[in-house]
Amino acid sequence: MKRILSGVQPSGKPHIGNYLGAIRQHIAMQKDHECFLFIADLHALTTVRNAELMRQQTYELAVAYLALGLDPNKTAFFKQSALPEHTELCWIFDCITKMPFLERAHAWKDAQAKGKKEVTVGLFNYPILMSADILLYQPDIVPVGKDQKQHVEIARDIATNFNQTFGETFKLPEPLIKEEVAVVPGTDGQKMSKSYGNTIDLFGTDAELKKQVMGIITDSTPLEESKNPETCNVFKLYKLFADKKEIEELAEKYKAGGFGYGDAKKTLLSKLMEYFAEARQKYNEILPKKDYVYDVLEDGAKRAKKVAANTLEMAKKKIGYI
Ligand code: ADP
Ligand code: TRP
Repeated sequence: MKRILSGVQPSGKPHIGNYLGAIRQHIAMQKDHECFLFIADLHALTTVRNAELMRQQTYELAVAYLALGLDPNKTAFFKQSALPEHTELCWIFDCITKMPFLERAHAWKDAQAKGKKEVTVGLFNYPILMSADILLYQPDIVPVGKDQKQHVEIARDIATNFNQTFGETFKLPEPLIKEEVAVVPGTDGQKMSKSYGNTIDLFGTDAELKKQVMGIITDSTPLEESKNPETCNVFKLYKLFADKKEIEELAEKYKAGGFGYGDAKKTLLSKLMEYFAEARQKYNEILPKKDYVYDVLEDGAKRAKKVAANTLEMAKKKIGYI
């Protein structure tokens, strides 16, 4: 059975872009892979500076995964900060990685473009910590969104570098990117992202979800006129959740005219409510069960530690620490 490893940052409320771009794949893969999945709370410290928020976002993300179908018996599900192996290996990689190599990373370049003074050392080092996250578990596959592909490539380069310097230690993982849902559009048509405030959240209240869907930006074609579905954000989102027949039906309504964007948004909203009905109900059931959720994460950390500690020990022997 092939091994997969992935991580998700607890940096805000999970949205449908996260679901289609990442969460769904993680959950689908647990049936025929050995899975390790962690909440990247160490990475989240690059942006989250409030203990209550860190705790809450971590907890809610764990609940979200469990509600969406993560099976803790199949997947070792844990918090990154529970395993010091991640930061320890990160330092080792820091010492064998050259600065100009990291300066090529997109996230660093973007942050720098916005103002170098504001950028932390942690953000610069982000890809190294992520390399440690990955390589500790010797995974075959790392399922990630398109924006994370470069980070997996960096992990491969670092693994190669370490292996050449100290001897064969780390397996080179392959990134897995689902091309058909590569970028889910947000309510303003840009990439859906917490940082753009254009999300449709998975577990908001009914009223919040309605507000987000009704706020999707459309053009100003009058109600009675024929509309082009392919250029409409509402239709683009609907296509991601509806079946072929439903998509064709909605496209016909757009083209026929007499069907307004408000109607299209209502159609999308009820589709989303239907699609996520079970998960939304489960979320509310699991949310108050703190002992259960923390037990899942602790048990996952124990299972992860067996693998991570073993890899780290191997690396330390190669370096000459033990
Ligand atoms: P955000 O941009 O909202 O902060 P993250 O960067 O935390 O989201 O992304 C978490 C995961 O969800 C990553 O694997 C990322 O590739 C995926 N993802 C985020 N936004 C989208 C999107 N709009 N479409 C597809 N996948 C996405
Ligand atoms: N950087 C990833 C993101 O923002 C999260 C992450 C941290 C991750 N470590 C990882 C993903 C290791 C895959 C493997 O989405």
